[in-house]
Amino acid sequence: MNKPLENQKESSRRNFMKAGLTMGTAFFASPILAGGTSKSSEATSGKASITKTRTLGSGKHSLEVTALGLGCMGMSYHRGRIPDRKVSISLIRKAYEAGVNFFDTAEVYGPYTNEDLVGEALQPFRKEILVSTKFGFNIQNNQMAGMNGRPEQIRKVAEESLKRLRTDVLDLFYQHRQDPNVPIEDVAGTVRDLIQEGKVRNFGLSEVNVETIRRAHAIQPLTAIQSEYHLMWKKPEEGVLSACEELGIGFVPYSPMNRGFLTGMLNSQTKFFAENDNRAGLPRFQPDAMAANRPIVEALIDFGHQRGLTPTQVALAWLLHQKPFIVPIPGTTKEAHLMENLAAAEITFSEAELKELTETIAGMTVYGDRYTPVEQSRVQN
Ligand SMILES: NC(=O)c1ccc[n+]([C@@H]2O[C@H](COP(=O)([O-])OP(=O)(O)OC[C@H]3O[C@@H](n4cnc5c(N)ncnc54)[C@H](OP(=O)(O)O)[C@@H]3O)[C@@H](O)[C@H]2O)c1
Repeated sequence: MNKPLENQKESSRRNFMKAGLTMGTAFFASPILAGGTSKSSEATSGKASITKTRTLGSGKHSLEVTALGLGCMGMSYHRGRIPDRKVSISLIRKAYEAGVNFFDTAEVYGPYTNEDLVGEALQPFRKEILVSTKFGFNIQNNQMAGMNGRPEQIRKVAEESLKRLRTDVLDLFYQHRQDPNVPIEDVAGTVRDLIQEGKVRNFGLSEVNVETIRRAHAIQPLTAIQSEYHLMWKKPEEGVLSACEELGIGFVPYSPMNRGFLTGMLNSQTKFFAENDNRAGLPRFQPDAMAANRPIVEALIDFGHQRGLTPTQVALAWLLHQKPFIVPIPGTTKEAHLMENLAAAEITFSEAELKELTETIAGMTVYGDRYTPVEQSRVQN
């Protein structure tokens, strides 16, 4: 098991995290005791519950991570105006100080600039944290230019990512999208070799189906599958989550607030900064779809109001209650949002609450596809 949480600094950072979460809880919610839920072991026994750290993967290929990681993409890519680099570095370090030990990036975010940012931000405490990054695309003229999962490309990306992340090993190296021209066995075999060479510690895949998971896992045990999963996109429940459970693979939901929609901050009046915000082109983020989907957000707001929670916290806590091996990676560019989001790791719903929330949203129609046809053609689910 890779456990980076070991040195002296760690215990003081843990205390900070506790304080931070308590503070977040005080500011945003009283989640544990709210709404008929209770902290007592009697009241919580047999109910869905969460822990602050979780394990992704099994045995030699497991990672002990905080229950929520930090998705860093939006600090450079696809989420609108890019904050000043110093602000983002400070935010990533605040997440570290608050106890977060799991940070997500990718070669294609920027491209390159997000890995470089994350590398600089995490350098002072590199040994205490875990960083995940991803390969899988050609990049030409600073733009993503189709998929490339060939062994030589995987090796090239690994070398370059190591440099940008200012590290000598990648804790978790995902294939971002499955290249239809390269058998998954070749991909898994290349990552297995990189692991043997000490350049990579663990292997992951993103947006793949059960068959691909099984084939890859047979060559090189997988530590995590990273795919979209939240109250408005539950496809992983149709096989992928149970395959992860069976095989001992972790699951990392990306875009856990549906790219911000479930926070309640976006609506049909929202104008996206189209130069750097892929939501501008996504069917689910067109004004009509956002208006039609608003009742889902209202339901989260109502549920949260009764318990002192924000809709974001409800959405994140719902994910954490689905399986103990689920570790969402919410993204943000703002410290207040970061603290609000981290407080979700403290929330416990009773079984009745969870059922009410799940059934309420499941009874509502979701309007608009999650991806454009081109983007949809790159995912297996
Ligand atoms: N594997 C893949 O293919 C893939 C695809 C997409 C994303 N990802 C990963 O998943 C991470 C998260 O995904 P995401 O950014 O698409 O979606 P997300 O985490 O669901 O939502 C991020 C958006 O929500 C806003 N937000 C966050 N916390 C908030 C709060 N408490 N209140 C109000 N607004 C809040 C953020 O804006 P502010 O900055 O204003 O907080 C941002 O616009 C990425 O950073 C990336 O690492 C992976």
